[in-house]
Amino acid sequence: MARLLLFGGKGGVGKTTTSTATAVGLADAGMKVLLVSSDPAHSTSDSLGVQLSSSPTAVDGVDNLWGLELDPESRISDHIPKLTETVAPFLGGENPEFNASEMVLPGLDEAMAFDELLKHLENPDWDVIVFDTAPTGHTLRFLALPEIIEKWAEKIIRMHRITGGIRAMMFGAKEGDKMREELEKFRRRVLHVRRILCNPEITRFTLVTIPEKMGVNETVRAYAALKEHGLPVSGCVVNRLTPDYDHEFIQTRRKTERENIESLVSSLPEMYFHEVELKDSDIHGLNSLRQISSEMHSDIGIGNGHGPFKIGLGLEVHRGTWRNGNDVYLHLPGIVRDDLSLRSESGVVLVGINSREHPVPFDRPAKASNVAAKLEDDILRLTFPDA
Ligand SMILES: Nc1ncnc2c1ncn2[C@@H]1O[C@H](COP(=O)(O)OP(=O)(O)O)[C@@H](O)[C@H]1O
Ligand SMILES: [Mg+2]
Repeated sequence: MARLLLFGGKGGVGKTTTSTATAVGLADAGMKVLLVSSDPAHSTSDSLGVQLSSSPTAVDGVDNLWGLELDPESRISDHIPKLTETVAPFLGGENPEFNASEMVLPGLDEAMAFDELLKHLENPDWDVIVFDTAPTGHTLRFLALPEIIEKWAEKIIRMHRITGGIRAMMFGAKEGDKMREELEKFRRRVLHVRRILCNPEITRFTLVTIPEKMGVNETVRAYAALKEHGLPVSGCVVNRLTPDYDHEFIQTRRKTERENIESLVSSLPEMYFHEVELKDSDIHGLNSLRQISSEMHSDIGIGNGHGPFKIGLGLEVHRGTWRNGNDVYLHLPGIVRDDLSLRSESGVVLVGINSREHPVPFDRPAKASNVAAKLEDDILRLTFPDA
């Protein structure tokens, strides 16, 4: 499974800029990266200077980088089949006890976005997925969704019972059961996504902010709220720092900013902080993104093209697969032995991860019985026999 890096924060602070820059930096370092944005304003396309769509598009000028803008109009998901249709008949109604606005399931949009994200995360082609999130409030709403669904389902079922009579005749017990079943399926899927989001082996959340008092306060609140839901928040980018020029106005501003940053750092002592200065123009195009990336992750790309990469947010990212002589390494965060299987078919070795099989790339045929497997620290090492 790929690594998932989420960037969140208030609008306009630099989420798109820092997430896009990180994605470019990781791709330059040799990772296969998918950059995902849920912003309907297509800001990621603008930032990269490349037109993206709702399916992965290769980014011109950066090998290994693909971009994707989630389609906000799309309400279709393989995993949430007919939820709306099944529930819809229960929502209509002339009964005054029905309050339509109350009956619309909150958080459905976020659920669609995260569900889509999960599909890409489960695709073994990607090493890293960078997600430029919607405002933090939406993420929080998503995290609370399983509990909301439960309450919501109860309410709908109660309404269904109260209105009884003619409605019960129109939508019999069978429809009621079907709706409950769809809701339960949906809730389980959301729970699964939430477990992945809360797994620090897979996901890291980076907060982006500006060095102003309001930004600091908002960041401290967002951190607490995300932590409360169990999300791994590890890094913070302070963007738009006033550069150091010899001018009274500039120096006064810098002093205030320093104080704000100090207060932020002391409120969040466990975080990795990175500062990015305000540039003399907007950050558009690959050149300026690469500059921002190197400011943020000065140690990016250390490694030998296949080992772990440390990026400047206090986390290590691995290539999904790499090879060294007869050894093939697969990075499988969060995997336990029992989830794995190994077999071969016509000379191709297949690794099964949670019963989904993936061929292991190797330049000559081999039999699984001749391949030694060792799982250590999330890395599966397969040693192939000599030629
Ligand atoms: N360090 C910076 N220096 C100059 N302009 C910046 C910087 N960071 C972001 N910007 C510009 O500010 C605007 C908002 O940034 P963006 O990344 O789109 O914010 P968000 O995604 O949080 O809404 C963009 O036009 C971007 O180019
Ligand atoms: Mg944005």
